[in-house]
Order: sequence, then structure tokens, then C-alpha cells
Amino acid sequence: MRLKSIEHATIGEILGKPVYDDKCQLLLAKDIVLTQNYIDRLKLANIQCIYIEDELSEGLAFDNIIDDALKVRSIATVKHVFKDITERRSGLYNVKSIDVIKDLVEEMLSVIYDNPGTLYCMTELMGSDMYTYNHSAEVAILSMLVAKSMRLNNTFIQKIGIGAILHDIGKMQISSDVLNKVEPLTSEELKRVREHVQLGYDLLKDNDFISPMSRQIVLLHHEKINGSGYPFRMSGDEIPIHVRIVTLCDIFNAVTSSRSYKHKLNADEALELIQAEAIYELDREVYYHLLRVVNIYPRGTVVQLSNGELGIVIKENKEAQTRPTVQIIRDKKRAEVVDLMDHLTLFVSKTVEL
Ligand SMILES: [Fe+2]
Repeated sequence: MRLKSIEHATIGEILGKPVYDDKCQLLLAKDIVLTQNYIDRLKLANIQCIYIEDELSEGLAFDNIIDDALKVRSIATVKHVFKDITERRSGLYNVKSIDVIKDLVEEMLSVIYDNPGTLYCMTELMGSDMYTYNHSAEVAILSMLVAKSMRLNNTFIQKIGIGAILHDIGKMQISSDVLNKVEPLTSEELKRVREHVQLGYDLLKDNDFISPMSRQIVLLHHEKINGSGYPFRMSGDEIPIHVRIVTLCDIFNAVTSSRSYKHKLNADEALELIQAEAIYELDREVYYHLLRVVNIYPRGTVVQLSNGELGIVIKENKEAQTRPTVQIIRDKKRAEVVDLMDHLTLFVSKTVEL
């Protein structure tokens, strides 16, 4: 199985994972053979990427920390809770909604503890209309994995998970036309988007069922170490560690997601971009732990090697993630296997679409 952008999908390919619509209802089931009609339906539902089974990726299944069923359930839960909390902003909080989030975080956390060593791998099962909900669920899982890698305690990790799920709840009060705008935002629009941190915090600030730590994540997740963030332009240690974790995971997830107005980056490109352009704004220790928990080249990823040859990743290397085992591709077929740990002069140049 491998991930492919919808533009590269071709008739006759077999769907490796189910695809869901914005109501979390099944749109197309796993194992369906793609027709032009199905491809059109996927595009209409704003699906950007699909998993396919083909000869090239046969037998390659990747382990993911969160299975599809839990992922879809998480997204549906986040959507429901966001709406519920936003609609009750007069102060009549629905305690049940908070409990639902706590249960979800608990479930995510037990999956994380039950699968030590399993790397995080982005899965896109829905269209870009579900972006905010999908993003919130992904940032929560990723932040908790990073926090666990940093050996923070269980209660701390749980609060990080809750804050991460809720971090963008303020966006529910901002017009989707602005949030999804393709053209650059005007200064007025940018100002409005930046208000989401305060709007989110205001929704939760009197809520005793959410810890101050989780609320702090909502308010401060756009602050940057070098003082260039908002709303308070805090810097360095003024920004608590639980906030710094979510900030980095938020950025990483945003650049590796497909949205209607931008092309998504692969994990390796995203990590490189963050390292090159934003590392001075972010916490380096958190970045180091992010590198340890993210699956940079999941099985099924097609890569170009430094000698120009194409290969498909058949096994990750958890100790040295940039050196996976690949199988060379010749005439669209898999040829010899190369473990990059045994060929140190050879390296992955980039990931490619095929
Ligand atoms: Fe945000």
C-alpha cells in the first residue's frame, strides 16, 4: 500500500484504505477498483490523497499508531465537541463534551502506551473540509508522543492532549471564507485569524473542568521562542514547555497536510523546512523529539536515491530514520533490495510521486 495524490490516481488502481466524507460516513470502501467516476467523486469531496494497492507496493503495510477506526471516531468527536462548546459560549458548558474529550485523550494515550516504538504516520482519510478537526486530532496524538518521548509524566501528557485537541477551537468563530482563502490574506483578515487564540481562550477560561495548562495551550500556541509570535510576543522560557510542544506539532502537521490552497509536504521536506526556516522560533529539544517519533519514510514511500535511481521503502530504520531499506524500481517493477545502512555513500535525495 502507498499514499498517492489524487491527481496521480489512475483508473484500475485499488483503494488500500477506505475514504470518508465530511459526515464521517464511508465514501468509498477499501479494495474498490478506481473508475473515472470514483476519481471524480473523490475530487468533488475535496479528497487530496488516497492509499492505493498496486504491484509496486504489494505486501507493504505500514504500522500506524492510531488505526483508521479510532482516527475517524476521533475526528467525528472533535467536530461534535467543537460545535457543542462554541454554541454554548454563554457559559453553560456542556460538561459531557469535556468528558468526551478526556475519554478520547485517554484512549489515544493508552494506544500510545500499548505500542511503544511505533512511529507516527500521517493518514489522510478525509477531505480538506474536515481539516480543522483532523488537524486537532493529529496534533493531539503527535504532541502526546513527543511529550512521552521527553519522559514527561502521564498527567502532564494528558493535559497536553486536551489542550492540543482544543488549541484551534477559536477558529470556529472565524469565517471559513477567510480560513480557506487561496489568495494572501489582507491585514484585516490576518488580524481576524490571529484572534482565534483569544477567542478560543475566552470560550474556555471560566471552565474549571479544563486545566489551566490546557487553556494556556489554547492561548499561547502561536508564541515563538524568538519573540516573533502572538498574541503577547513572549520569548524563551516565558513560553511553557507544554505550549512549545504543541506549537511545533501544530506547525509540522499543518505543513504536512493537504488543504485546498496548498500542496502538502512530505515528512522529510517538512522537517527540513522547519530546520532551515523556523528552528530559531521553536524549541530545539522538542524538535529533536519530534524527529524521534515521526515516521519520515513510511513503507511504500517512493524515493529517489543520490545515484539517481528510484526505490520504494520496504522497511523503516527506527534508529537512523534517514537510512531506510529500499527496493530499487526498474521498469516499474521492484528489483534488488538496498539497506542504506550498508551503503553509506548512498542516501535518499527526495520523495517522488509515481
Ligand atoms: Fe492556531
